[in-house]
Order: sequence, then structure tokens, then C-alpha cells
Amino acid sequence: MKRRSIVAANWKMNGNLSLINDMITGLNAVHLTENVDVVVCPSFPYLASFTAIAQREGLQKSIHLGSQNVNEHQSGAFTGEISIDMLKECSVQYVIVGHSERRDIYKESSKLVADKVACVLDAGLTPILCIGESEAERETEQTNLVLSAQLQSVIDKIGIEKFDDVVIAYEPVWAIGTGKTASPEMAQETHQFIREFLALSNAEIANKVPLLYGGSVNASNCETLFAQPDIDGGLIGGASLKVDEFKVICSAA
Ligand code: G3H
Repeated sequence: MKRRSIVAANWKMNGNLSLINDMITGLNAVHLTENVDVVVCPSFPYLASFTAIAQREGLQKSIHLGSQNVNEHQSGAFTGEISIDMLKECSVQYVIVGHSERRDIYKESSKLVADKVACVLDAGLTPILCIGESEAERETEQTNLVLSAQLQSVIDKIGIEKFDDVVIAYEPVWAIGTGKTASPEMAQETHQFIREFLALSNAEIANKVPLLYGGSVNASNCETLFAQPDIDGGLIGGASLKVDEFKVICSAA
């Protein structure tokens, strides 16, 4: 069975209105194969702008808007936070949850990440659940343990059946923004482990979940990474800020 491929751009705290305009124009000119979805995740202030420009300029139907985070509560006294309903009003369809920068810098626990995944699913949006090990964890051969624990906390919260509507992004923390990409073989081996771990709970769902690779993906390495049997696209940071390079990556999926 051929799974859906997804290429998601995580702009992190970068980008501006001009990049939104250029990216929409650039992506509209890319020939995306039928099975590929592209998700652009700018910072919060640009979500409504993206939607307004996309409505004005038109947008290929397989290009979607995503958010980089969400608060797990519906509303209330949470200064500086953004609710899922606010994201929906901006026409967001995907939400990145549990990025390693959120887990590490903002101390988001696996329990909080699981609550956010549940919040996104309850609203009918698609979470892009990020998991990944640190360099020290890989060196001490704890990668599979770390990934299993990160996944299990979400399974415990939402149940395996709901993974039908979840996208998983595997991002080895040591490969993020460092130029040190996991080799295609290493990435494939870990993706296969993730799928096998999910299959312990439900083989059918494990086979359907899109598994994205993230960590220094660029125009030169995307093709070999995306050619791996268990890699269904990528979560792209730095290279997604360059329209021409991101177009190459989207075309490779
Ligand atoms: O969300 C994206 C990842 O953190 C990868 O970032 O492509 O700059 O390494 P990067």
C-alpha cells in the first residue's frame, strides 16, 4: 500500500510577510504528485495572512496551513498562548506538537504533548507528533527506549485507533539545524522501529501512519531519504525558508 507523503515546512521563529507571499507563489508553480501534501507552518502572526493571501492568489488544494504549537486548553487565562479554535479560525489544518525545541527549551513533558495531541484531534485537525532522541541517548543506545516512551504516552492518552489521524515526525535532536543528517539507512532503521512499535498495538494502523523524517533535510539529500520504504516525507526547518530549495524538496516527495 502506498502511503500519503507529506512535506511540512517548520519556519520556527523565522520568516515574514514577504516570505509568505513568495512561498505561496513558488509552491503554486510546483507540480506536486497526487499523493503528496505540503504543509507550511509559519509563526502565529502570519497564519491569518497566509490564509488571506492564499484566498486572493488561489492555492493548490494539496497545500495546507499548519501551526507550530497549540495550547492544550480551550480558552482562559493563559497569557501568550493560542487555542485550537483560534487556529481553526485561521484555517489551520495541521499542528506540530512536541517539537524537540518545545520539549527541551520550554520543558514540555510527554504528558503535556499527549494532551496537546488529544486537543488537536478533538478539534478535527491533524497533529504532527514529533519524537526523537538526543545525541547522548543515541550514543548510549537508548534511542528505541526513548522513542517508545514518547509514543506510549500518546497511545495511553488517545488510544492507538486515533493514530489513524496522526502524522509522526521522527527528528533525531542531534540532526536538527546541525547539518548532521542521519544517513538514509539509519533513518530507515529507526522509522522501521517506530512502525514496528506501533504495530504491537495495531498493525493496520501502523502501516498507514505517515512517518516523516526531520533533521537537516535539504535539496541534496531529500531524494535518498524519501526513497526509503518507511519514510513518507519530511519536516523541514532551515531549508524550508528558501523557496527554491523547498520546491525541490516538495518535488522529491
Ligand atoms: O522542524 C524541523 C526540524 O527541527 C528540522 O530542522 O531542517 O533546520 O534541521 P532543520
